[in-house]
Amino acid sequence: MEAFLELSRLKIDSISKPKSILDDFSWRIQQGKVYALIGESGSGKTTFAFSLFGMLPKNTKIAFEQFQLFGKSYDYWKKEKWKSIRGKKINMIPQNPHLAFHPYRKIGNQVQEYYSLVLGKDLSEQECCVHWAKFGIRDPERSFQSLPSQVSGGEKQRITIAMAQFSESEIIIADEPTTALDPIQEKNMIELLMNSLKTKNSSIVLITHNLKLMQRIADEVMVIKSGKIVEVNSRINGSFPLWKSDYARQLLGQL
Ligand SMILES: Nc1ncnc2c1ncn2[C@@H]1O[C@H](COP(=O)(O)OP(=O)(O)OP(=O)(O)O)[C@@H](O)[C@H]1O
Ligand SMILES: [Mg+2]
Repeated sequence: MEAFLELSRLKIDSISKPKSILDDFSWRIQQGKVYALIGESGSGKTTFAFSLFGMLPKNTKIAFEQFQLFGKSYDYWKKEKWKSIRGKKINMIPQNPHLAFHPYRKIGNQVQEYYSLVLGKDLSEQECCVHWAKFGIRDPERSFQSLPSQVSGGEKQRITIAMAQFSESEIIIADEPTTALDPIQEKNMIELLMNSLKTKNSSIVLITHNLKLMQRIADEVMVIKSGKIVEVNSRINGSFPLWKSDYARQLLGQL
């Protein structure tokens, strides 16, 4: 099976306040699989997500032995190269939906602009609203005409999920994609996202604190602690073999 991402010995340091954020981080992402990344708060999950997106904060430094995307070695530092990848082949549902949009422009116009400029698809307001309605946005016309501050966090999160689904990206990084949704909405939303990804054979990197969700949908789980991989576990015949490390078992409530 083709590897979408081959990463070895990734290292990310903070420069301003010298410290290691991620260290010796290697991972292989194959087509059509669900990968979960779990670890306590501050362990480096979001930083890892941003590194796959070429959007690390300026006060950080990245190094690696290998960084291959879609079968090619990637010139990580060439900003131009990311334009053909970011938002197109790799997409992200951000952890904080409040930061996903420019605060002073109507959401609908921003989304239309993304569809048009990044994906090359011109959608009318009505077409956007029909698509959004599938993601449980109750009054899509109102959301379309609203400023980000005028719609709830849950609505914004649904819109970012709809955008990622529409992009037909090969890799979708979902960074705690349902934190603003209640448990029933969360289940529906994840099912919708998963079904759509399966039909497109995309890969998904799911960052979550929801261990039940992880156990239900992930093919492979990586546990990290303080920026280092503690354990990787893959589903075999429908369930995960017992975790070996005390840390993973503690995190998963098996200790
Ligand atoms: N730009 C930055 N400069 C310095 N340190 C940073 C920067 N961004 C993140 N960090 C630090 O790196 C570590 C990992 O942060 P990160 O946001 O990746 O964690 P996380 O696992 O996503 O946490 P959470 O579960 O709370 O979302 C933290 O100690 C954080 O303070
Ligand atoms: Mg995070």
